[in-house]
Amino acid sequence: MADLTTTFLGITSPNPFWLASAPPTDKEVNVRRAFEAGWGGVVWKTLGEEGPPVVNVNGPRYGAIYGGDRRLLGLNNIELITDRPLEQNLEEITRVKKDYPDRAIIVSLMVPCEEAAWKAILPKVEATGADGIELNFGCPHGMAERGMGAAVGQVPEYIEMVTRWCKENYSKPVIVKLTPNITDIRLPAEAAMRGGADAVSLINTINSVISVDLDTMAPEPTIDGKGSHGGYCGPAVKPIALNMVAEIARSPVTAGLPISGIGGVTTWRDAAEFMALGCGNVQVCTAAMTYGFKVVEEMISGLSQWMDEKGHTSIDDFVGMAVPNVRDWQHLNLNYIAKAVIDEDACIQCGRCYAVCEDTSHQAIAMSEDRVFTVKDEECVACNLCVSVCPVEDCISMVAMTPGEVDPRTGDVVEKEYANWTTHPNNPGNTCASG
Ligand SMILES: Cc1cc2nc3c(=O)[nH]c(=O)nc-3n(C[C@H](O)[C@H](O)[C@H](O)COP(=O)(O)O)c2cc1C
Ligand code: SF4
Ligand code: SF4
Repeated sequence: MADLTTTFLGITSPNPFWLASAPPTDKEVNVRRAFEAGWGGVVWKTLGEEGPPVVNVNGPRYGAIYGGDRRLLGLNNIELITDRPLEQNLEEITRVKKDYPDRAIIVSLMVPCEEAAWKAILPKVEATGADGIELNFGCPHGMAERGMGAAVGQVPEYIEMVTRWCKENYSKPVIVKLTPNITDIRLPAEAAMRGGADAVSLINTINSVISVDLDTMAPEPTIDGKGSHGGYCGPAVKPIALNMVAEIARSPVTAGLPISGIGGVTTWRDAAEFMALGCGNVQVCTAAMTYGFKVVEEMISGLSQWMDEKGHTSIDDFVGMAVPNVRDWQHLNLNYIAKAVIDEDACIQCGRCYAVCEDTSHQAIAMSEDRVFTVKDEECVACNLCVSVCPVEDCISMVAMTPGEVDPRTGDVVEKEYANWTTHPNNPGNTCASG
């Protein structure tokens, strides 16, 4: 059976599934229950500086987006960092780490952007025996307006500066948690690296207004008639997170920088995708908040089974395997030609593929009088829209044409050689260069 043991920054955990810094890791009772359920590690809910803790709203702090079956797809929150006293959190962290030495405990931190504030909290965290710290430069609401969270994460110079302070005043690994509320994720990652970060983790939540109550005409969640922007997470943000992870993993500047992947991880497959794109482990919040701690059991068994099927004996076997296959568009092979093929036995004759191809793609699906749907190869551009809307999994597949065959759409012979936009005769750049 595959070994799921993960060593990330020298921190060993029995599996790569860590709970992200959020309500599931807010206090001792939760974290103990999480470890009993099987989570490999936790990033403790973000601690602030000593003194009166922050205050949360006393009304709804969440809003959600659902699929047609009311499955939660996206979660929005206006919660702040921990609203419990620093000392209490530190005591609890110390106790839990002592009782669970085989699990990873990382302490998330957010204090004002002043060296003295960091110097004050770091020795206290070090004394807990926790395995490392994560710098929360990502929270987009509430704390950002106070010059913390995303307000730091959006300024690479600040990231570099604070990371350096932490590296100078703390002996264990420092993970920098990045905000996605930025144009080019590589810049904050590079800044973290310059500051000496041992790893980056991403993504924190995306700035959002999830919905508007059309009776009260206020954004939701609504507090006494008013709403505020919040942080968006859950399955809907996974594609954004995957892209940002891939950008960091394949950038020559940050390649090799350890990454902890966060954003919409709900199943073992999501986790495997993050790891294939270079993440040494993953962190989970919304899935635990939607399904409870036991959701990790399926993650563990699913990943283990998939690794066995693929012949991966350890996590490191496949971390980063997909990174070389991520390319900019202009390097995709324009000589690769495919066609959609409908499995008539699997087809339930709903007609969705026909409707979308006819109205919004290439009019490449024919419907007979008795509702048999067939692809017209002479029109099909293999756009994959029909696959995307078909309710039956694997009913439509994209089949590559063999080099030497004639594409009935263009009349051209399918070339064997790889050729991309940079060499294509229609590329004006090439015309200029040759002219
Ligand atoms: C209610 C809530 C509170 C959160 N609080 C924190 C926090 O205190 N510190 C932090 O770094 N991230 C916080 N996050 C962000 C999560 O750690 C995580 O980055 C984000 O939710 C994306 O992961 P997910 O899609 O698995 O939820 C919070 C998220 C939620 C939903
Ligand atoms: S792949 Fe695109 S063009 Fe081809 S049949 Fe499907 S929707 Fe139409
Ligand atoms: S969408 Fe799928 S199931 Fe529906 S008609 Fe097309 S191939 Fe058949």
